[in-house]
Amino acid sequence: MGDGLFITLEGIDGVGKTTQARLLVEYLLQQGYDVVHTFEPGGTSLGQAIRKLLLDPENHQLEPVTEILLYAADRAQHVAEVIRPALAEGKVVVCERYIDSSVAYQGYGLDLSVDMIVAVNKLATAGLEPDLTICLDAEPQTVLARVGGDRIEQRDLAYHERVRSAFLSIAAQNPQRVVVVSAEGTEWEVSQRVQRSLAGRLA
Ligand code: TYD
Repeated sequence: MGDGLFITLEGIDGVGKTTQARLLVEYLLQQGYDVVHTFEPGGTSLGQAIRKLLLDPENHQLEPVTEILLYAADRAQHVAEVIRPALAEGKVVVCERYIDSSVAYQGYGLDLSVDMIVAVNKLATAGLEPDLTICLDAEPQTVLARVGGDRIEQRDLAYHERVRSAFLSIAAQNPQRVVVVSAEGTEWEVSQRVQRSLAGRLA
């Protein structure tokens, strides 16, 4: 699997993931690491087409199982094309969202079988798991106002509350891998917390 480090960032919509991913990448570059910044859904050209299908508010007819499989298909392509090759070259991969998002948004959020989602994603990724997951946490009520309103973001507050508690449960079940970081405060304050969560993880 190579000697790289696979870091994922997770959290509900509007929590500031992209900003924090950028700040984390900048920090790692300053420390001299070779870093790849990527994201799901849409981290490959094929994935961009899948992302459009998933987020277009016009696609009301999308079945929940189709939704699961499209996120997994995007991920399969992304792992094969971007993540594994970078890790094999010893790089640090910073990825916005990964399997935890499918478990939280489709599993807990839509009340679908988490076991089934985990199994589908094992197939999609050939079992690739992150070395570290940073889960940015905030109240949906305070951060949802920041988001644009794509097909997933348009779901109601109760849905986003379930997704938030799902991320917290995933963190509680995987304490070695997942660190919960409060997303409250300034971007700089949050970035300092993110950097502290790397302690002991970098070679
Ligand atoms: P994201 O790109 O993080 O949102 P944006 O760039 O619009 O801020 O993710 C798009 C949406 O897809 C987001 O609402 C979360 C959702 N999502 C899932 O429901 N399941 C998944 O497996 C992933 C990766 C994302």
